[in-house]
Amino acid sequence: MSTNFDKILNRRISNSIKWNAYPEDVLPMWVADMDLTAPPPILDALRKTLDHGVLGYEFPRKELMEEVAQRMQRLYNWEVKAEEVIPVPGLVTGFNIAARITCAPGDGILVQPPVYFPFMKVQKNTGTVTQLAELKKVTHGRTLHHEVDWDVFDNAIHSDDAQTRLFLLCNPHNPTGTVYSDAELARLAQTCEQENIIICSDEIHSELLLDGHRHTPIATISPEAAQRTITLVAASKTFNVAGLFVGFAIIQNKEIREKFKAELEKLTFHTNSLGHIASQVAFSGACDSWLEELLVYLTENRDFMVDYIEKNLPGINTSVPEATFLAWLDCNELIESGKIEGSPHKFFLEKAKVALNEGAMFGPGGEGFVRLNFGCPRETLLEGLERMKAALG
Ligand SMILES: Cc1ncc(COP(=O)(O)O)c(C=O)c1O
Repeated sequence: MSTNFDKILNRRISNSIKWNAYPEDVLPMWVADMDLTAPPPILDALRKTLDHGVLGYEFPRKELMEEVAQRMQRLYNWEVKAEEVIPVPGLVTGFNIAARITCAPGDGILVQPPVYFPFMKVQKNTGTVTQLAELKKVTHGRTLHHEVDWDVFDNAIHSDDAQTRLFLLCNPHNPTGTVYSDAELARLAQTCEQENIIICSDEIHSELLLDGHRHTPIATISPEAAQRTITLVAASKTFNVAGLFVGFAIIQNKEIREKFKAELEKLTFHTNSLGHIASQVAFSGACDSWLEELLVYLTENRDFMVDYIEKNLPGINTSVPEATFLAWLDCNELIESGKIEGSPHKFFLEKAKVALNEGAMFGPGGEGFVRLNFGCPRETLLEGLERMKAALG
């Protein structure tokens, strides 16, 4: 392996949210960025720009959109045209814009909790109704996974007297780490077609695939799905450049695309020039060998973590993520047995000095869970797990 992912970096000297939100004695394992440097080709391109020294207004070049389109072709055999790719200042912006152009106040937005919590905030931003199609937890011994409960999904549509206009899909799914199968995607797409629901598919984690799992963009499931889907992609998670705030909406339906572009224009959203450069390099494939090594490292971290939890943290059941660097830990047995009182997030923060994400924030099904970020050197991961073990006695 030519990249040393074991190297410990001091992130406290930066403005990192993850590393500066808690006191110095707390080990942060929460916010979804990784404790490693971005790939050298991206850093070299950014350095070249900084050496030039001019940081004036820039527009995203057509070549950038072409690069994104070509990567979709290479990875998924998905034919995308450059004009179907729209830069957005982040994916959270992207799915909020999607809601604004597809829903009127009082309309319904379907989500699958426990899910990335800004999905739930779209309701507040748009005056819509969140319709909850909670995922089903399936436990196998000390591990668990989440899958669609089809009755729950179907019943959530048009629930609370609201017409469902938008399905906010998260695939691969944060926080559960599930990668939806083609059969599941086909059924989801078909239901949306029958019910005339637009799909906004957040695929930010689509290249962080562990163990050779395969990702399918829901837009590639059928021509009908392509026409009703807004797909959101970015280099941000995969190549650890989230602070540069550039993502892309791929919209093949012209009418939806024009509305999306008009809304971005209306709200005067622009993208960051350093983010354009990083994205262009990332989508070009110049960092793919780095990514291959990263995925091996993350898979080993995941396996190390699952093994550690099974052997040393009785009462915690863990997901075995198929994608992402996020583990979803079920602490409900510890709560039921009285070993943890109240929130497991608070318990581990106070007793272990480890900052995790509070599961309840991810909506129904998240109660009694915490989310742990294993996108860090193995030594850091071990330290976090050892602190948790010691706290549990
Ligand atoms: C599913 C998902 N979507 C979006 C984001 C954030 O996207 P952005 O920073 O581009 O707004 C995250 C970050 O963790 C995420 O997990």
